[in-house]
Amino acid sequence: MKIISAKDYNDMSKKAADLMAAQVIVKPNCVLGLATGSTPIGLYKELIRRYEEGELDFSEVSTVNLDEYCGLTKESDQSYAYFMEHNLFCGINIDRANTNIPNGANPDAAGECARYDEVLRKTPADIQLLGIGNNGHIGFNEPADGFAVGTHQVMLTESTINANARFFAKKEDVPRSAYTMGVAGIMSAKKILLVASGEAKAPIMKEVAVGPVCPQVPASVLRLHPDVTIVADEAALSVLRESNPELISK
Ligand code: PGA
Repeated sequence: MKIISAKDYNDMSKKAADLMAAQVIVKPNCVLGLATGSTPIGLYKELIRRYEEGELDFSEVSTVNLDEYCGLTKESDQSYAYFMEHNLFCGINIDRANTNIPNGANPDAAGECARYDEVLRKTPADIQLLGIGNNGHIGFNEPADGFAVGTHQVMLTESTINANARFFAKKEDVPRSAYTMGVAGIMSAKKILLVASGEAKAPIMKEVAVGPVCPQVPASVLRLHPDVTIVADEAALSVLRESNPELISK
């Protein structure tokens, strides 16, 4: 696990975009695993800028997203499909037919999860982007007694509902469940890039880097993956830097 420190959010976004852009340049028909949340927005803006300047071509790229709220259609402005359309896809020349997101509007959870696992089997990510929740969740893999392997429906924890309430008119509007890639889907990516910003993430970043690998800290499982890069700003690395400065590269 390589941990790269960035000065601030903008610097984190640029450094992370460098890695995603390199993937697209070396393999124009690569599969990008994508994430939602506030952290990747700057990275996506940076990819759009590089596309507009002619540095990147997404015409052969495919994508697989981590997760989607249950009960929202892709037209709902709170769905992750809508987020991806408005924060990335609308700004680059990607073929929408090559983009994949779990279908939150499918009430058949078992059918939808099986369908998405098949998508992941046929379209494994070359690089999977991840944010991290304050409680260590990746995708919607919440702290639990065991790691969930395949794509599954998950009930969101109170902490995640509270953290996501800022995107909704009121907390009651936050969906109570989601479809998410499981640990197998995430870990099957060839490379993993986790981005984190801000002081609220500092305690969990230390847990991920040096705490036990356990399902109570879902992101800790990344320590078992051979090619993980974390790009995080100084605030997010502040607690880890106090205890283990040797783990952080510039
Ligand atoms: P955030 O969410 O980027 O909005 O902090 C990250 C996550 O919950 O995965």
